[in-house]
Amino acid sequence: MEYTVFRTDGQGGLRREQVSAAPLPSDGVRVAVRAVGLNFRDSYVIRGNRYRAPLKDAIPMTDAAGVVAAVGSAVTRFRVGDRVCSTVLPNWIDGPLSAHGMARSTAVLAEYFDAGENDLVAAPPHLSDEEAATLPVAALTAWHAVAELRVLAEGDTVVVQTTGGVAVFAMQFAAAMGARVIAVSRSEEKLRRSGAWATINTEVYPEWDQQVLALTKGEGARLVLDMGLNDSLRRSARAAAYEGTVAIIGVVQEQTNPLDIYTVMNKNLNVRGVETGSRAMFERMNRFMAQHNLHPHIDAVYDDVDAGLDRLASSPYGKVVLSLRY
Ligand SMILES: NC(=O)c1ccc[n+]([C@@H]2O[C@H](COP(=O)([O-])OP(=O)(O)OC[C@H]3O[C@@H](n4cnc5c(N)ncnc54)[C@H](OP(=O)(O)O)[C@@H]3O)[C@@H](O)[C@H]2O)c1
Repeated sequence: MEYTVFRTDGQGGLRREQVSAAPLPSDGVRVAVRAVGLNFRDSYVIRGNRYRAPLKDAIPMTDAAGVVAAVGSAVTRFRVGDRVCSTVLPNWIDGPLSAHGMARSTAVLAEYFDAGENDLVAAPPHLSDEEAATLPVAALTAWHAVAELRVLAEGDTVVVQTTGGVAVFAMQFAAAMGARVIAVSRSEEKLRRSGAWATINTEVYPEWDQQVLALTKGEGARLVLDMGLNDSLRRSARAAAYEGTVAIIGVVQEQTNPLDIYTVMNKNLNVRGVETGSRAMFERMNRFMAQHNLHPHIDAVYDDVDAGLDRLASSPYGKVVLSLRY
């Protein structure tokens, strides 16, 4: 059998290749890709940015939903026809993150990809293929920060910066847990769509941390999801409550920014990095989404990779998804 894969050409584009299917190992699962979710990093992997050259000869993208097309003789977790999602760090099954957990990733921009049976999770039955393809990175990272850190309780306040893929999931999860969401964004239109308990437009209030304090009667937020806005780490620490947590998720400005260690120290803050999540977290998230009938916010679905990447670069609300024909 032959099938199509896409590889980065190192010049901001992709080239299409036909490859012959390798024999499946006994624990292997071949997945027919139905939809691919785009993430912030996919853009610089393919197109590069000010600080990084595009990768050459790599199959990009990590987030796929698909159908099991074939299984090896020893596979017990899945059967042909099952709907599955990829995992971004397939070695991280459960428990704390380790070097082993970080050692391997996934590459899914292809008609089929082969995985070990332990590398996949069942796609939530209440979600379409396009919806399920948004989960492996953005939803899981948001779930990790909002639920798995176990710092946010019903009635607590959480600040979520931006209205991109991770942020919109974080708002959905936090609201479903009964928390009060304060959304922080450059876009008034997207803030209106967020349905958050309160919103702060950074174009109007660059000192958004002061607004968080005003909205919380001086108390601050129990949890702040920091996406690396301009000067955001200092502001996130100021916006957090005493004994609160600043979860460092990303750097949308391309460069990191300084942390005010005095605020961290004086407020007993917990400043915590958040790397995607384990397969066990993914499965707990899927159960939560099914229980609360949560559906991802999909901004748009494209059948062309360039069009999808262009949309991603234009600050969509929620997720951009590819549904490719071969
Ligand atoms: N730690 C992890 O495991 C993990 C996982 C996924 C993503 N991330 C990181 O988290 C960040 C957000 O990822 P995402 O997938 O949610 O991204 P995304 O869907 O592309 O959304 C990015 C959002 O950031 C806001 N933004 C503010 N300043 C920006 C700027 N200068 N350039 C681009 N966007 C800007 C925009 O929202 P507004 O218009 O509302 O301001 C935009 O919609 C990225 O840094 C990404 O690398 C980390």
